[in-house]
Amino acid sequence: MTTPPPGPLSGQSALVTGASSGIGRAIALRLARAGATVWATDVTEEVVEGGPPVAVPLAEISPASRFAPLDVRDHAACAELCQRIATEHGRLDLVVPSAMTPGRGSLAQTTPEDWRRVMSVNVDGVYNVLSGGLARMLSQEPVDEVRGRIVIIGSQHGMVASPGGFSYGVSKAAVLQMMRQIAVEHAHEGIICNAVSPGKILTGKSGPAVAPEMIAYSEARTPLPRLGTPGDVAQAVLFLADPATTFVTGHNLLVDGGWMAG
Ligand SMILES: NC(=O)c1ccc[n+]([C@@H]2O[C@H](COP(=O)([O-])OP(=O)(O)OC[C@H]3O[C@@H](n4cnc5c(N)ncnc54)[C@H](O)[C@@H]3O)[C@@H](O)[C@H]2O)c1
Repeated sequence: MTTPPPGPLSGQSALVTGASSGIGRAIALRLARAGATVWATDVTEEVVEGGPPVAVPLAEISPASRFAPLDVRDHAACAELCQRIATEHGRLDLVVPSAMTPGRGSLAQTTPEDWRRVMSVNVDGVYNVLSGGLARMLSQEPVDEVRGRIVIIGSQHGMVASPGGFSYGVSKAAVLQMMRQIAVEHAHEGIICNAVSPGKILTGKSGPAVAPEMIAYSEARTPLPRLGTPGDVAQAVLFLADPATTFVTGHNLLVDGGWMAG
């Protein structure tokens, strides 16, 4: 197997979900540049914002890293992939659930089908990959007191309500509570669990979230004089994944340009 470049995550394996596009893609590439062998997973290889499939830049950074298809709604497939990574790499050091599907509308506008579609990816999907990842991590020996690290991608919309974002906001609040539960329930077993909650991040995708009035509102609402980039979020994930970051667990790190402080 080709050795990844040296860095703070050298020798580590990392699983990232929703890694074909946007923030998940930036996280996968950032972790690979930090030396991790990354398994970038997604339900599709299509890139929402355009450009080559994530496997292309990933291979240039870290030839041992790879893309693997994974639908996070499939509990058995998540468990199997976590086991496969551990079998091939020796252990599973880091899991970053970033896959999501958007949901729009108030409670009154949310059908049972909309609700289930959003929850199946944004909540069940995070549970599925973390339950597979945790089972694997608990079976491996600690390194510097840590058996494994988890960084969940939340959102500021899991902390404050956004009008018309009922199912999405509830799903993001759920994963932030998942983070706290895991951090507390498994701390004594050497599991470190944190979250990164992005503010408004421009990923290059189109749609209602980047309509001109939404961008103008987000710019007016953000103290720093720009909106966020996927790289801003990826760097925060790396900070929480870095073995040099110690005694930090159960934390929700905002990457929002100061939005939630005001
Ligand atoms: N962009 C923002 O402003 C913003 C703000 C706050 C939080 N976030 C969070 O950041 C993360 C990434 O968001 P993004 O804006 O980059 O979105 P995105 O739409 O660009 O990427 C989401 C990825 O998830 C994948 N996905 C969807 N369903 C899947 C499934 N069933 N199994 C596996 N993969 C699946 C998609 O194919 C896509 O590649 C999400 O968790 C999102 O909630 C984003």
